[in-house]
Amino acid sequence: MAKEIKAANYKEFGGPEKVRVGILELPELKEGDVLVRIKAAGVNPVDAVISKGYYKDMMPHTFPVIPGWDVCGEVEDRGHAARRFNVGDEVYAYARRPEVKWGTFAEYIVIPESYLAEKPVNLSAEETAGIPLAGLTAYQCLYDAGKLQENQTVLILGASGGVGSFAIQLAKVTGAKVIGVASEKNHSYMKELGADYTIDYRNTDVGEATREIYPDGVDLILDCTSGETLQQSLQALKPSGKLVSILNQGEGLDPDIDFQFVFVEPNAQQLDHLRELAEAGKLEVHVSKTYSLNQAAEALEQIQSLHTTGKIVIVP
Ligand SMILES: NC(=O)c1ccc[n+]([C@@H]2O[C@H](COP(=O)([O-])OP(=O)(O)OC[C@H]3O[C@@H](n4cnc5c(N)ncnc54)[C@H](OP(=O)(O)O)[C@@H]3O)[C@@H](O)[C@H]2O)c1
Repeated sequence: MAKEIKAANYKEFGGPEKVRVGILELPELKEGDVLVRIKAAGVNPVDAVISKGYYKDMMPHTFPVIPGWDVCGEVEDRGHAARRFNVGDEVYAYARRPEVKWGTFAEYIVIPESYLAEKPVNLSAEETAGIPLAGLTAYQCLYDAGKLQENQTVLILGASGGVGSFAIQLAKVTGAKVIGVASEKNHSYMKELGADYTIDYRNTDVGEATREIYPDGVDLILDCTSGETLQQSLQALKPSGKLVSILNQGEGLDPDIDFQFVFVEPNAQQLDHLRELAEAGKLEVHVSKTYSLNQAAEALEQIQSLHTTGKIVIVP
C-alpha cells in the first residue's frame, strides 16, 4: 500500500503564499530507489524561484509540487537492487530530479540511491542538510570551473550567504587568499569562516576597494549576486583572471573576459569529498534559523530576501 506522508506542497505557481501542508501518497520504491526518512531539509533561493513558475519551461513540473532539493535523513527501506546503503544509514543528498515533483520539505522521499552520500558523522542533521546545493555550487565553481590554485586570490560576491559561506571555506582549503563581499553586519561572520579581507557593497565601489587590497587585481571572481556589484568588481579582475557566475549567463559582459556560468549538478562523489572536509574540521555549516514543516512558506519568504546569513533549514 502506498505510504502517506505529511509534506509542504503547492498545486499552482504563485510563490510561497501558495504553499500548504497536507498528506500526499509517496510513489512505490523502484529497484534502485531508497526510502529516506527526512530529518532536515535545506532551503535555497531556487525553491522560491521554482514556486513562482520561473523554471516551468526549463524543467517539467507535476502538481502538487513538494518544494526542496536538499536533504539529510535515514534510510528506512530499499528497492531490491539498491545495496549501497543499509537500512538505518544516515545519508544526505542534492535531490534535484529531472521532474519537479517530489521535494524534500516532507517527512519522506523516495529517491534513486545514486544521489546519496554518507552524512558527515560530526555534523547534526540540520547542519548537514544545509550543505548539498550550496556546497556543491561552491565546489563546482571554485574547483571545476575556476580551477582555483594555492596562493591565488579570489573575490567572492555575496560571501555570507549559502553558496558564499561554503566558497570562503573551500577557497581556504586550497590555500587561496579570499576577499568576501557582503554587508557590514556579516563581516565578522565572513572573517570567522576564513575571509582574509571583507568589503561592504553598500557604501563602497567593490572594484576600487579590491584594487586597494590587490593593486594587480584578483585571479578569480565568484559572482553570487550579479547586478551593480558584479559590474563594479570587473575592473579588479586580472587580465589573466577568470569570472565564474551562478546568476549572470554572459549578458553585459566583455566577450574578452574568461567567463563561465555554472548551474549546479547533483554529484554524490563531490558530496563525499565535502563530507571528508567536514569530518576533518575544514567545513562548518552555520544554520541561522530552523523552521518546522508548517512554517515552510515563511522559510521560502526568508530565503527569497537574498539576505540570509549561512543557511536556513526545515525540520519536518
Ligand atoms: N546557478 C546555480 O547553480 C546556483 C546555485 C546556487 C544559488 N544560485 C543563485 O545564487 C544566488 C545566491 O545564492 P545563495 O544561496 O548564496 O543566496 P543567499 O543565501 O540568500 O545569500 C545571498 C548573499 O548575497 C549577499 N548580497 C545580497 N545583495 C548583495 C549585493 N548587491 N552585493 C553583494 N552581496 C550581496 C547577502 O549578504 P547581505 O545579507 O550582507 O547583503 C548574502 O550573503 C541566488 O540568487 C541563487 O538563486 C544559483
